[in-house]
Amino acid sequence: MSRVSPVFPNLIDRTQVSCSNEPRPIGATSDQSRAYSAAANQGAPDTEFEGQSNPYVDYSFVDLLHTLQVPRSGGYDESCFIIMGQVKELLFNALHFELFNARHQVDQDNVAEALRMLERAGRLVGYIGQSWDVLSTIRVDGFNEYRDALGRASGQLSFMYRHVEFVLGNKSDRLASAHRNMPHVYPQMRAALEAPSLYDRVIALLARRGHRLGEEALERDWTKPYQADPTVEAAWAAVYREARTGNDLYELGESLIAVDDQMSQYRWRHFVSVARIIGDKPGTGGSAGVGWLRQVTEHRFFPELWAVRTQL
Ligand code: HEM
Repeated sequence: MSRVSPVFPNLIDRTQVSCSNEPRPIGATSDQSRAYSAAANQGAPDTEFEGQSNPYVDYSFVDLLHTLQVPRSGGYDESCFIIMGQVKELLFNALHFELFNARHQVDQDNVAEALRMLERAGRLVGYIGQSWDVLSTIRVDGFNEYRDALGRASGQLSFMYRHVEFVLGNKSDRLASAHRNMPHVYPQMRAALEAPSLYDRVIALLARRGHRLGEEALERDWTKPYQADPTVEAAWAAVYREARTGNDLYELGESLIAVDDQMSQYRWRHFVSVARIIGDKPGTGGSAGVGWLRQVTEHRFFPELWAVRTQL
């Protein structure tokens, strides 16, 4: 029995929403046209639009977005769980975009731009971590009301999160293969598994900048998870001995470890919140639950950047 039954406000008629994800025409404005509108409206915003929508809704598919929350149980907390899960998915997408582009800029030797992207990436992970402030208001009794209705659904099946892990270098053939029955997702997942990660490309940059790196660090089977390499640690040690503002490789090292730091905190908060909600029960995704998540919290994406501190 549900503690309290949710009452869903009726805010949108789903039957009238277009399900197409093709860009909707919204036209463009200019400084001139905006100045004209502001003057014509005496400073107030526009309230008249043609057709059956408005440019804000059409630009971001907002009406479609708000039809995608479909609870499966009568549990009150499920609504919060679905929305926070979707918010996190969007943030994983935003995070992956920055990391993917940072890798591209590193490949172009454009470290300054990569640094700006990594700064945003670090902030995004911090923001994702804060989602647990809200999610941890879901208590064991509230979660149990809809847990069975999740079936085998689990965050570990998030292909967007998997792309984040892969671009950061934590590859897993097994976890990628969980998507092999999805023809709209799996080819891209395999391509990401087989591509060098952001960190692999940073190591190539260190080599281009004159650091001596072992062959294994520069050319290996990219589908395998990254393993610490002594020549990479030696290169970072050399970079960090020149720790000063303006040394872009030093700044890059610091930006990367900031992302790794935030990812560790995110994983830790997930692990602790999950322990608080389900204790030692197995996960819906088929794993041992917190037992499996605990070992994930120990993982570091850029191990040499952590190890190098010991010798500085
Ligand atoms: C609030 C209740 C939640 C619980 C009790 C929970 C529990 C778990 C458990 C037990 C696992 C291990 C895999 C398995 O299911 O067997 C897992 C993995 C995972 N969960 Fe959650 N989770 C929750 C919320 C979320 C949310 C809202 C997200 C974000 C969309 C999320 C993202 C993930 C991800 C990405 C993994 C895989 C971690 C990795 O591969 O390192 N979880 N979760």
